[in-house]
Amino acid sequence: MKIFLSFIFFLISLLHFNSLTRKGLCIAQLTHAVTPPRGWNSYDSFCWTISEEEFLKNAELVSQRLRAHGYEYVVVDYLWYRKKVPGAYTDASGFDVIDEWGRMVPDPDRWPSSKGGKGFSEVAKKVHDMGLKFGIHVMRGISAQAVNANTPILDTSKGTAYFDGGRKWTASDIGMQDRKCAWMPHGFMGVNTKSGAGKAFLRSLYEQYAEWGVDFVKHDCVFGDDLDIEEISFVSEVLRKLSRPIIYSLSPGTSVTPAMAKEISGLVNMYRITGDDWDTWQDVSAHFDVSRDFAAAKMIGSNGLLGKSWPDLDMLPLGWLTDPGSNEGPHRKCNLNFNEQKTQITLWAMAKSPLMFGGDMRQLDDITYNLITNPTVLEINAFSSNNQEFPFVSGSPKSHFSLHSGHTKKVGSSRLKSFNFLSCKETKAKGWSVQAVDQDLDKICWKNSFETRGAPFCLYKRKAWIKSDEEVYTTQYHGKSYLLASRWTSLCVEASPKKRLTSKDSKRGSISPCKMDTNQMWELNINGTLLSSYSGLCATIKTVEDNAIPGGIRSWVATGRRDEVYLAFFNLNQGKTTITTRLSNLAKVLPGVKIGALSKCREVWSHQVCHISRGRSISMDVEAHGATLLVLTRNGA
Ligand SMILES: *[C@@H]1O[C@H](CO)[C@@H](O)[C@H](O)[C@H]1NC(C)=O
Repeated sequence: MKIFLSFIFFLISLLHFNSLTRKGLCIAQLTHAVTPPRGWNSYDSFCWTISEEEFLKNAELVSQRLRAHGYEYVVVDYLWYRKKVPGAYTDASGFDVIDEWGRMVPDPDRWPSSKGGKGFSEVAKKVHDMGLKFGIHVMRGISAQAVNANTPILDTSKGTAYFDGGRKWTASDIGMQDRKCAWMPHGFMGVNTKSGAGKAFLRSLYEQYAEWGVDFVKHDCVFGDDLDIEEISFVSEVLRKLSRPIIYSLSPGTSVTPAMAKEISGLVNMYRITGDDWDTWQDVSAHFDVSRDFAAAKMIGSNGLLGKSWPDLDMLPLGWLTDPGSNEGPHRKCNLNFNEQKTQITLWAMAKSPLMFGGDMRQLDDITYNLITNPTVLEINAFSSNNQEFPFVSGSPKSHFSLHSGHTKKVGSSRLKSFNFLSCKETKAKGWSVQAVDQDLDKICWKNSFETRGAPFCLYKRKAWIKSDEEVYTTQYHGKSYLLASRWTSLCVEASPKKRLTSKDSKRGSISPCKMDTNQMWELNINGTLLSSYSGLCATIKTVEDNAIPGGIRSWVATGRRDEVYLAFFNLNQGKTTITTRLSNLAKVLPGVKIGALSKCREVWSHQVCHISRGRSISMDVEAHGATLLVLTRNGA
């Protein structure tokens, strides 16, 4: 009897176990990106030029040093299929390695393990053996190179060329020449997802990524200014049907609004809400308004592809880096000072952005390491809730002297220079001249006059890449140059062959941080005017004073897993500022949280105890461009 009973119990527990596992599986499918994805991406330190050896070394170091802190994805950013030879750069064409079906494959010279048709499978295997997950960047649609070669399309269900309506379909049937990627017009264009062949092509790409062992795709040039909802929807559908869970990320997100994001957040796991973020104060400070808007729209961690979706503030360009759009690997230190770096990581944590470290792991210094692995920052980033901007703060300048002494000397960082556009006929537009830097590089500089004060404003010239068989480009852009903005100015004209700048736009100030240098095609006229070819207007330089840079103070709040309240103060001003709030204000934005019980306060970056006054207010002196991060707890907690 006893044996019989225990047998029955055994059967019951088996059944129970079975239903648990099934439930478990079901939950597993719905827990994609349950917290903001975290990892390393090659772009900020290698641009597109990374090799297999460099990538695997970085991955190994991520595994040794960052994996324990939740950094699990290692992502190869763009152009892994491009040959690294003279003449190849971001918008060059004809340097890519494609297979017989027009699909991008890793350049075997940079990725030797891909030889023999193995793609990224060997790299993915090694990454998985390190306990990490493997990601790749991919562009929209189809490459111009595949369209030019008119490759056939693979029907993965049959393993043969795609046939429909009694004919074989090819790349030129699906490539949409009028939907070129605006920042890489010679590289990629959208595909027609209404045709079976267009769908078959996209399926053949993403199924192959899954076969390689890819765990994360960063899909570029389909969102923001280049929005292509049809391609996003179809790729999301293909990914959902794969047996391998793949995190779906969109990039970049210039001009993204919560309304636009609502259309896609259910289809993806993370999506950029800004243009590229680099290590300038303007880039960091440009993230405050947009992250506030996404928090207010309740988009942080809303429903996504088989799990959640996260507004993404972009990678963290800290540590040892390269330059945007560069053909070079890491060669310089991050330009943000320590206060600015603390502000960046604090905002990224409070806004629950995915954290993708961008610095070269081989040169990871202790300061950067401590910033990106701070346990409170990572706890907030992954597990806090009620994250939002907190408007009930006031600020007063700490010292008037600090505003003036010392700051005005540093022309580069305290005064910004910006483009102004006029008709080329105006005499005021004259003032540009060429200065040779070395035999390969010219500088084009604006006159060093009273107006610009201090160092001349220069742009670096690079010859426009012109494909010889493209008649239009040969004639239209003959003798023109791409200009690379210098480090301190990094401002580009918001114009492209697709989106021409009108004089109305230019009055509104269509200048933004450079997405890619290819958006600037310029011609220096003999009379010293500099023509922006996409706008038909000529550039002059004006100096923007400090007070034109967004300043002021900001604050964010969130709640923790153990009833703690996180309160961050940000000082976007050029001088030290005292920021104050009353604790009773917290109740206005955090209903249900027992604010009255909060009695202890700790500042994360300084490890200091902070003082709650008898009137229940908190005041903190915050350095210029700096942040304080307070953890408020109950007594005994
Ligand atoms: C400078 O040269 C360009 C090109 O020849 C011409 O269109 C423009 O009107 C000239 N501007 C001035 C101020 O002379």
